[in-house]
Amino acid sequence: MPRHFLTGQELDREQLLALLARAHQLKAAPGSSDALAGKSVALIFEKPSTRTRLSYEVGVTELGGHAVVLRPGEMQLSRGESIADTARVLSGQVAAVGVRTGPDALIEELAAEGSIPVFNMLTELHHPSQALADLMTLQEAFPDRPLDELRLAYIGDGNNVARSLAILGEAAGLEVVVASPQGYELEPESGGERTSDPQAAAAGSDALYTDVWVSMGDEQTADQRRAALAPYRLDDELLSLAADDAIALHCLPAHPGEEISAELLYGKRQRIWDQAENRRHAQKALLEWLLASA
Ligand code: CP
Ligand code: NVA
Repeated sequence: MPRHFLTGQELDREQLLALLARAHQLKAAPGSSDALAGKSVALIFEKPSTRTRLSYEVGVTELGGHAVVLRPGEMQLSRGESIADTARVLSGQVAAVGVRTGPDALIEELAAEGSIPVFNMLTELHHPSQALADLMTLQEAFPDRPLDELRLAYIGDGNNVARSLAILGEAAGLEVVVASPQGYELEPESGGERTSDPQAAAAGSDALYTDVWVSMGDEQTADQRRAALAPYRLDDELLSLAADDAIALHCLPAHPGEEISAELLYGKRQRIWDQAENRRHAQKALLEWLLASA
């Protein structure tokens, strides 16, 4: 059975911490692994992407492999070919497939019908590739403190990014508190704590994290979202409630002045641009883990 990475729940704590340790090794020596030598990986993007596309495509190349980027309009999927048939064909050509799409059911079906690892590059409900880089960035920022001694407050929409942080944070032992307004909460089952009070969430935290208020697919409710989420902006005032050495994180793309102030986004206490770079290193470790099963 191939390994998959659809929600992040596929990794137990030991596997997750080993994967993160490997990510740090790969960051220190980016050309040191040829885990994908002679292999190809398909990357299917049904939604726009800057970081995920770059980091997976460059990461596959650094591992000695070849990335095939596919867009739905260029595939027979867009003309009615089934996911199951697409999975069979992919399984005969590439070593693994990553997908960015809306419905989680699509990647679940692809994983069930194919015989190769499937990894989630963002769905409506999950963004576990992002959470790997987030945990790696926390370890980098606090090298003397294990993840199970840190507290992260996610302030904003209880969306795919928040859910993956809660799931993978819990797996790593990280304390995750999610602060969202009514109507935008993350369900309790994903792990961590919930509050509607951004100040209470920020108090004593080691990291404050936010994401866009209008995710891909949420454009029709943009005005309501901006109104409801306005008190949940990440700025220096909120950060002043956190620990003295607390950092700011954001998965990007950012809207300075909306969910995060420009001062924080480009300031001294953010690790946001490291976080974006770490996508590649963490995902290379993930690709090694996925391929180790095949
Ligand atoms: N954070 C993230 O996934 O960015 P992209 O949408 O640019 O890939
Ligand atoms: N929550 C955002 C994340 C973008 C990387 C979205 O789904 O659009």
